[in-house]
Amino acid sequence: MKLYNPGGERGSAMSYAALLEKIEILRSTLRWATRIERPDIEKLLRQANGLRDEVMRLSHQTRFVQALDAGAAIEPVGGSERRSDASPQPNGAPAGERRQALLARSFVFEGTFGDNPRLLDALEIAEKAAPTDLPVLVDGESGTGKELMAKVIHANGSRADKPYISVNCGAIPDSLLESELFGHRKGAFTGAANDRKGKFESAHKGTIFLDEIGELPLPGQVKLLRVLQSHEIQRVGSDETIAVDARIVAATNKNLRKLIEQGSFREDLFYRLSVIHVTLPPLRERRDEIPLLLAYYGDESAEALKRRPVALSPRLRDFLLQYAYPGNIRELRNLMYRLACLADDTADLAHLPEDIRPGASAAAMPAPAAAVPNHASLAEAKRAASDEAERSCLERGLQETGGTVTELARRWDMNRSHLQILLKKHGLHSKNFRKGH
Ligand SMILES: Nc1ncnc2c1ncn2[C@@H]1O[C@H](COP(=O)(O)OP(=O)(O)OP(=O)(O)O)[C@@H](O)[C@H]1O
Ligand SMILES: [Mg+2]
Repeated sequence: MKLYNPGGERGSAMSYAALLEKIEILRSTLRWATRIERPDIEKLLRQANGLRDEVMRLSHQTRFVQALDAGAAIEPVGGSERRSDASPQPNGAPAGERRQALLARSFVFEGTFGDNPRLLDALEIAEKAAPTDLPVLVDGESGTGKELMAKVIHANGSRADKPYISVNCGAIPDSLLESELFGHRKGAFTGAANDRKGKFESAHKGTIFLDEIGELPLPGQVKLLRVLQSHEIQRVGSDETIAVDARIVAATNKNLRKLIEQGSFREDLFYRLSVIHVTLPPLRERRDEIPLLLAYYGDESAEALKRRPVALSPRLRDFLLQYAYPGNIRELRNLMYRLACLADDTADLAHLPEDIRPGASAAAMPAPAAAVPNHASLAEAKRAASDEAERSCLERGLQETGGTVTELARRWDMNRSHLQILLKKHGLHSKNFRKGH
């Protein structure tokens, strides 16, 4: 199984990789254990997962410390831009130290991975904003982690043990909006059979997360503004005012300033919501996080589907490292779940959704150029080309021997089990080359 090994073959990061490997063995032993009760297995797995996450975080951090020690900028995997982590950060400290400092201050990451300077900027703002009651506006493209950031803010504040209520403003029909947010009295409208609490009341003393705030229609915006000013609500059909103390975090993937120009978002509401404004960068601008996220979601998906983690063929891995991810981290996560669902031991390009698969024929017979990632360094290009040559040779060999591995091993004067390992690495199945298949 391929494990995330941030430091390559050198330095202390290697010991993290070895540790991760041991934890991985423990996890798979637990997963297949027959003499332990299921609830106990689940409990132990949760603990092992916590340990693994912590080791992954530490090892990730080590990579940056090493880079800084070497005094060099790190070339991101699969990307052409040189990262600038080694240069001073906006707050004067380098990336490794910044994450370490957050860890030392017991910051709750809620599963947020990454050491990209712009992500760290966002986390540091979240850390400072969390203990206050100031409204926070989080924006960024779809799938960049806005909701996760809202949870981070809640988890690091004094309201962490109070309710966290999430409202998708884009999903509530206009006619139900007021009742959904503020509740209603019995008989207030047809269908209001009972008194009902709204989301704001449910979030009392806690946090209310107003997702897709850019979708909130103008009448809803006026009502929300009133609550922000008065900290009071009225249930639909009631004259009584109820005091609510809910911390507001709002999120949008829209450019609210543009919506203001177009007249579809109120400027006064924007300023009320964005006392603290956090923007999350798209994944293509923090490509250095991709290997870590692939490893993490590879494991998570395997566990969710109760199977062994899927290996990635070299050309699929290259593709995943250089892909643009328009759907950001959510897309990466979904891809890993798809691979865990569709692949046997090794996933390959053929397991990708058709609309992103490089060249429809690439899965069957890729042109060597298809395997070489754009912007690859010389070393990466060489490795990709060599992997590709190895794969075509194996495919040709299997075709010529009608999928008989023993015969192929004999012809090439190779150890059969070594040949099997190579076939596995490329996700090739000898049975697919047998006649009549
Ligand atoms: N830094 C990160 N590390 C690990 N996982 C992340 C990170 N950021 C986001 N994710 C994961 O990516 C997925 C999408 O995140 P989230 O739902 O917070 O995005 P979003 O910005 O709210 O998306 P949308 O605009 O589509 O609602 C989630 O599964 C989340 O856990
Ligand atoms: Mg969201």
